[in-house]
Amino acid sequence: MIDGSSIAGPGFVNVKLSDQWIAKCIQNMLRDGIETWAPKLSVKRVVVDFSSPNIAKEMHVGHLRSTIIGDTLARMLEFSNVEVLRRNHVGDWGTQFGMLIEFLFEKFPSLEVVNDQAIGDLEAFYKASKVRFDGDPAFKERAQRAVVSLQAGEEKYLKAWAEICKISRSGYEKVYEHLGVQLEEKGESFYNPYIPNALELLNKEGLIEDSEGARVIFVEGKKIPLIVVKRDGGYNYASTDLAALWYRLNEEKAEWIIYLTDVGQREHFEMLFAAAKRAGWLPAGDSKYPKTSHVGFGLVLGEDGKRFRTRSTETVKLVDLLTEAKSRCKTALIERGKDKAWTEEELDKTAEAVGYGAVKYADLKNNRTTNYTFSFDQMLNDKGNTAVYLLYAHARICSIIRKSGKDIEELKKTGKIDLAHPGERVLGLHLLQFAEVGEESITNLLPNGLCEYLYNLSEYFTGFYTNCQVVGSAEETSRLLLCEATAVVMRKCFHLLGITPVYKI
Ligand code: ARG
Repeated sequence: MIDGSSIAGPGFVNVKLSDQWIAKCIQNMLRDGIETWAPKLSVKRVVVDFSSPNIAKEMHVGHLRSTIIGDTLARMLEFSNVEVLRRNHVGDWGTQFGMLIEFLFEKFPSLEVVNDQAIGDLEAFYKASKVRFDGDPAFKERAQRAVVSLQAGEEKYLKAWAEICKISRSGYEKVYEHLGVQLEEKGESFYNPYIPNALELLNKEGLIEDSEGARVIFVEGKKIPLIVVKRDGGYNYASTDLAALWYRLNEEKAEWIIYLTDVGQREHFEMLFAAAKRAGWLPAGDSKYPKTSHVGFGLVLGEDGKRFRTRSTETVKLVDLLTEAKSRCKTALIERGKDKAWTEEELDKTAEAVGYGAVKYADLKNNRTTNYTFSFDQMLNDKGNTAVYLLYAHARICSIIRKSGKDIEELKKTGKIDLAHPGERVLGLHLLQFAEVGEESITNLLPNGLCEYLYNLSEYFTGFYTNCQVVGSAEETSRLLLCEATAVVMRKCFHLLGITPVYKI
């Protein structure tokens, strides 16, 4: 394994891994599969709470970030053989439903005719009902009574509520379909029946106090307490999250619960976790399981440096954004004459893979805590650190292998890798690092580490390929295997990042 070691200044020793050992590891991976390089985690079941838009409000780019980053973390955990409960904690409960339901009754006295065409844009519907709510005291009173009726489970109200949720859902499911994201909806309403019990447990522990008519939990280091019962007796976001946490720990037996929202909600989660620790639901400290993590992320900015919006409306419709990325890719492919060489389906599938992949990668490559600028021109550039560049690099490797005319599956069984050239060694060593980078990325919940690794991999490959002839050389077998190993690792990275690889360009 070790070729030699030397002292590298006081306190440091350089250890040189042998070429043969590196080569052997890669050969084994090719033979036994990339799964043998999967991270090893000590947890068995994890909840990832991500995406989580709010019913009747437009899903915005913040929810897109949550969806993209959450899906990647879930994929990394799944790759590590962990059971992942992918949870969409949609905002489907709360006082705004009174207003929405009353407005729905007013516009459609017979609920039978309600569908997404009738309502059109749910966000516009939301805004119109808000105008009505603010401007008409009689309506406001009816809306407030509607909340009570809904919470009491009156059928007519439940039906209207379900209808509104259904229309909203069909909107955001389109986004998930485009992005290839799987999620199970367990919205706020699901945890509603568990709130009284959860609060009772906390009360028994003596955690809940009265404060200005509300019921609250104080936590160390925070001046403002966590409000768990509002002054009017109603529950809120925090009460729901406490019940959800209880449910996930006790019913779902999750050992790690990961929440994805923008950094603006950090305070909320800090207080939630601190309250759970005070109650003994979670162990003290951060190293023991079960544990919770809030994965916060920054804003998406437009090229003007302000919060990302389109000109016409205040928020960008996510589906339109994805469609645009795809159509720009399609245009670029047609400009390169691919419409003549490929079938319509190939063209469409490639545009989709590259377009959606570009949107995801542009997000994931940044340290999530920072803001990033959304720019189609940048993310769709075929040079630089973009998904387009990486997908093309992968396709080029596949075409080298194809052009050799060799049966790569056969070579995997019989061929040997030899890392004689420095370019080969550097590439080989980097391939080997996949395992530790993967583990580090998921442990720190930072997918940008994996993106950086992937980008460097394609750079090292280029270094190797410019210096080492592959097809027709004396070292052809070994070098083809290095090509294949690079392609296999790249594909696994793409998979973990939720990007569909392309095989030809
Ligand atoms: N619906 C919330 C929002 O749009 C996000 C929910 C995150 N999950 C949670 N358990 N609080 O801001």
